[in-house]
Amino acid sequence: MKMKCTACHATAESAAQAGFPGLGKCQTCHPEMSSLPARSARVYRVKDFVFFNHQRHSEAKVVCATCHGEVYTMDTLKLERPVTMVACVACHKEQKATIACNVCHELGQ
Ligand code: HEC
Ligand code: HEC
Ligand code: HEC
Ligand code: HEC
Ligand code: HEC
Repeated sequence: MKMKCTACHATAESAAQAGFPGLGKCQTCHPEMSSLPARSARVYRVKDFVFFNHQRHSEAKVVCATCHGEVYTMDTLKLERPVTMVACVACHKEQKATIACNVCHELGQ
């Protein structure tokens, strides 16, 4: 149905984290569904000493597919782009975004 990503990941353009939908979201179209399917293991996850912010990337017009691939063509979502420092910094250099250490890391930790 090519639903907007933000129909389910409500804060992917407006907060640091994209978020996941609750059961109520599914029930608007699947009223018979009584519980959410079990969540699979996370595919994208930065370590806890790294800051990532969806809103800032959205404001900079970096679209979901650049980092997550063409989700609607995949049966199983897979890692499109690694969440390593090398990969983050490579794009930041390419797009002339900041590479100051304290943007992605809180200093003194
Ligand atoms: C805007 C409407 C809509 C929403 C919201 C929605 N779905 Fe669906 N879903 C559909 C439609 C339409 C299909 C295709 C049904 C078909 O092919 O018979 C589908 C198919 C599915 C299927 C495949 C079923 C099968 O038999 O292959 C699953 C699983 C599913 N949805 C889970 C979910 C979950 C979990 C949520 C909430 C996170 C959700 N859906 C939210 C409309 C929706
Ligand atoms: C109908 C609701 C729905 C829509 C629309 C939707 N997603 Fe999702 N998405 C989910 C659910 C539910 C999960 C968790 C699945 C699981 O863990 O098994 C998920 C997982 C993901 C993940 C994996 C996160 C992780 O670290 O494991 C990414 C990335 C993602 N979605 C991106 C997108 C993008 C990009 C779009 C738009 C092209 C989109 N989603 C549209 C419901 C949706
Ligand atoms: C610049 C790369 C990039 C872009 C653009 C991006 N994401 Fe992400 N996404 C990530 C990273 C990195 C993570 C892991 C974040 C973490 O662990 O806190 C992630 C995590 C997620 C998750 C897991 C849940 C969560 O709250 O973190 C979902 C769902 C998701 N992204 C959906 C989206 C959607 C939808 C869009 C477009 C509106 C989008 N992403 C745009 C890189 C990106
Ligand atoms: C595809 C390109 C791309 C990738 C990949 C990417 N970024 Fe970015 N990032 C940008 C752009 C463009 C901006 C906005 C530039 C600006 O605000 O100066 C940005 C902004 C940010 C900001 C906000 C900067 C500020 O000044 O507040 C943080 C934090 C950030 N990125 C962290 C990350 C991390 C961590 C990763 C890897 C997990 C990552 N980014 C991957 C392109 C990317
Ligand atoms: C655009 C975001 C970004 C910027 C800018 C950045 N880092 Fe990182 N850094 C990361 C990510 C993401 C990781 C986690 C790598 C992983 O999980 O493999 C990381 C990991 C690290 C680690 C841990 C390495 C390890 O092997 O565990 C150190 C130390 C580090 N960064 C230092 C720095 C320093 C110093 C700077 C400035 C010169 C810097 N970082 C700038 C994103 C960034």
